[in-house]
Amino acid sequence: MTQKTLLSGIQPSGKLMIGNYLGVLKQWTSMQEDYRCFFPLVDLHAITVRQDPNLLRERCYQFVALYIACGLNPQKSTIFIQSHVPQHSELAWLLNCFSYMGELNRMTQFKDKSQRHANNINSGLFGYPVLMSADILLYQSDLIPVGEDQKQHLELCRNLAHRLNHEYATEKSPLFTIPEPYIPPKSSGGRIMSLQDPSVKMSKSDSNEQNVVFLLDEAKSIEKKIKRSVTDSGSEILYDEKNKPGLANLLTIFSLVSGNTIESIVDSYQGKGYGHLKVDLAEALIEHLRPLQERYHELSSDRGEIDNILKKGAETAKNVAQKTLSAVQNTIGLV
Ligand code: TYM
Repeated sequence: MTQKTLLSGIQPSGKLMIGNYLGVLKQWTSMQEDYRCFFPLVDLHAITVRQDPNLLRERCYQFVALYIACGLNPQKSTIFIQSHVPQHSELAWLLNCFSYMGELNRMTQFKDKSQRHANNINSGLFGYPVLMSADILLYQSDLIPVGEDQKQHLELCRNLAHRLNHEYATEKSPLFTIPEPYIPPKSSGGRIMSLQDPSVKMSKSDSNEQNVVFLLDEAKSIEKKIKRSVTDSGSEILYDEKNKPGLANLLTIFSLVSGNTIESIVDSYQGKGYGHLKVDLAEALIEHLRPLQERYHELSSDRGEIDNILKKGAETAKNVAQKTLSAVQNTIGLV
């Protein structure tokens, strides 16, 4: 039986935080046993908003070291930088010619980012989901584990794949595999919320760092952020996303880092206040991140090793990507 292919990417923007970790990275590490995995670090996506060149380069190294510290195994999974594999940009151009302005205009992330970066609404930002579709379709990916915020982009990708498969239907196998999203429910990490405003998602590029626990945060800082996190009026501990979104978010994080179910956590805090829960959550989070941070500090000093991983990753990725790109070029009539 051939192994199915899994692909998922992260933009090297901001700093990796527990939303990325609990939403996707942690899932990747367990899924890499069963799938042929590709994990591009999507730097071409990151430059749709202005980046400091030195910081961007630094972050790429930091993110790769963190991937490995979180448990990704470069012997099993292909870890690479998107811009090292030019096939991504080439397929994106071809897909652009099959994408409609109307459908791209509906993307909520484009609307959000246009508002936040009103002086830089560039066409890269508009075409972002097309590049993301190229990332996925190049590898004939079956499964795409992402957080809830990427759902709309994946729908667009599926539509594009269907559109081209239909337009160029042949007796032979279809041009693209139709990818399936894998999005954990909110209570399992699919949407970790901001600590100060649980009505919006936690974001690695949030300008208010109090909203976010970063993977490399020190213990003191984690304690402070959790202690100051917004909970709701009342003092009863129960999981209620609608009426107690702040508490529901803390319970979700607690459950994912402790391995205990939300129900059992709720049970064990009956009659105790939010303060008590926050102290224990901070401790569980610190202990959960400690080994990961230690591994990161060992790995990050070895740039040569990270370069080797990225070189090997790009070679593997290029071989697979070129097969799809050539098939598409041939099918649409390029000489
Ligand atoms: P990015 O870099 O914003 O986020 C990386 C991944 O983390 C998930 N995520 C979250 N999950 C739970 N709670 C949160 N608060 C949270 N914040 C972020 C995101 O859903 C994402 O899965 N467009 C993508 C990157 C991308 C990609 C791809 C993903 C480019 N090409 C191909 C999958 C396949 C993005 O901006 O992710």
